[in-house]
Amino acid sequence: MGAGKSTAARQASNEAVDADKVFEERHGPISDFFAAHGEAAFREREEQLVVELLNAGGVVALGGGAVETPGIRRALADHLVVWLDADAETCWRRVEHSTTRPLARDRDGFVERFERRRPLYEQVAHAILPAATTVRPALSTLRALPREARMIWATTSGGEYPVVVGPGVRDMPAPASGRPITVTDEHVREHWAPDAEIVIRAGESSKTLASAERVWSELVRLGVTRGDHLRGVGGGVVTDLTGFCAATYQRGLGVVQVPTTLVGQVDAAIGGKTGVDLPGAKNYVGAYHQPRAVLADVLTLDTLPATEVAAGWAEVIKTGLIAGGSLWEAVVSGTAVREDIVFACARTKVDVVAADDRDDGRRQVLNLGHTVAHALEVVSGYRLAHGPAVALGLLVALRLSGQDALRAQVKEMLDARGLPTSYSDFDTDAVLDATRRDKKRIGAHVPFVLVSGPGDVRHGQKVDDGSVRVAVEELRV
Ligand SMILES: NC(=O)c1ccc[n+]([C@@H]2O[C@H](COP(=O)([O-])OP(=O)(O)OC[C@H]3O[C@@H](n4cnc5c(N)ncnc54)[C@H](O)[C@@H]3O)[C@@H](O)[C@H]2O)c1
Repeated sequence: MGAGKSTAARQASNEAVDADKVFEERHGPISDFFAAHGEAAFREREEQLVVELLNAGGVVALGGGAVETPGIRRALADHLVVWLDADAETCWRRVEHSTTRPLARDRDGFVERFERRRPLYEQVAHAILPAATTVRPALSTLRALPREARMIWATTSGGEYPVVVGPGVRDMPAPASGRPITVTDEHVREHWAPDAEIVIRAGESSKTLASAERVWSELVRLGVTRGDHLRGVGGGVVTDLTGFCAATYQRGLGVVQVPTTLVGQVDAAIGGKTGVDLPGAKNYVGAYHQPRAVLADVLTLDTLPATEVAAGWAEVIKTGLIAGGSLWEAVVSGTAVREDIVFACARTKVDVVAADDRDDGRRQVLNLGHTVAHALEVVSGYRLAHGPAVALGLLVALRLSGQDALRAQVKEMLDARGLPTSYSDFDTDAVLDATRRDKKRIGAHVPFVLVSGPGDVRHGQKVDDGSVRVAVEELRV
């Protein structure tokens, strides 16, 4: 109620119908019907009407409470369902003076109903759009969305784009112009990108300016212009490098990211941070460059080596800690369907980035565990991979947060996923030095992300050197 469904439906189609309006044409004002017959009778009639409208085809704007009826939820399974995600306060402000909405009479009741319905919207939605945006730019992706796929519409100050998760979505049309030029690495080419134009060596050692120069040169050789776009098909190394080359080649062209690792699908490919490493400093050169689309094809994960799946779980556990709620529960249970986990993590990342795409505030929570992780990576000369480093970094962050029980729980979860929970091949002073060089430092102060509980994470926290030393040293145990 108040999310803007009728307006969005009209944007989607001139012939869109509004279920509440049709109801009123047939039965008179909804508020009168409620007063005379009650909500149960209304829901019964509403169900008949919605099923009829859905069967007739086209675009239908549903009433806000329609999802509460199990029969409607069943009927929706055969249709593309778009959820305009709004917060309760915004919607309440839009409807509080309405005289025609019987369920929008008092604020508390409205908010309670809103929160009760939220998981049902979540359950039926194939596509999630922020209620504040116009639906038009999303239409081409919505029309092309494969049946088993789900989409989140990401909005940032640097552009808006679809993040699609599902089997087979790597080949779906993306909203990007001109010739696609695929960049991949040697492993991914073999499985998922045999026709790629540009192939880099696999691994972090390729995330360098030298590789970027090679890609730029290849683009020149191929006659690529700003009207064309790049496709980064691979893990975070490929998508970070491809995004960086897209941001800089001829001062910027479009990029479609097709992440093929769990790390890429839940994190790296989303949010527009692109870049390369310098020998002593990870991710030190880069640009914010939002992609035109992110196509996370979960089938590509089938060929991922076990160590890389484990690396992805470090980021999944991190994202679960940030999001809390149902995602944390799913991560803890360990039984959730892979696609659901990827989708929920991608959604968390989209939400965090939407609030702060240039990393000035809230986005820094995504760095949970990463301050020490990056330091460990640098000190190991990048022999320690990112995923295992994040696992260790999370344990340090949880100790610094004073979350001993949660640390023990996370340690067990990391163990179960085959990630390291102890490590001794480092010099503590070197790690502390590298931590102090963290990009996020402001003057002498390196801000940490600390956890008060799942879903309750604070960035920009001050921690004294002595505590960091103890928490890092503890990794040797
Ligand atoms: N930009 C961001 O916001 C962001 C966020 C998190 C991580 N990152 C970056 O991502 C990088 C790590 O990414 P990653 O963990 O995906 O590593 P990666 O790109 O090196 O991929 C890991 C390995 O898996 C192989 N591989 C990829 N997909 C495969 C598939 N489907 N089947 C078989 N093999 C496959 C690769 O060839 C590589 O050997 C780091 O550089 C990190 O800094 C960036």
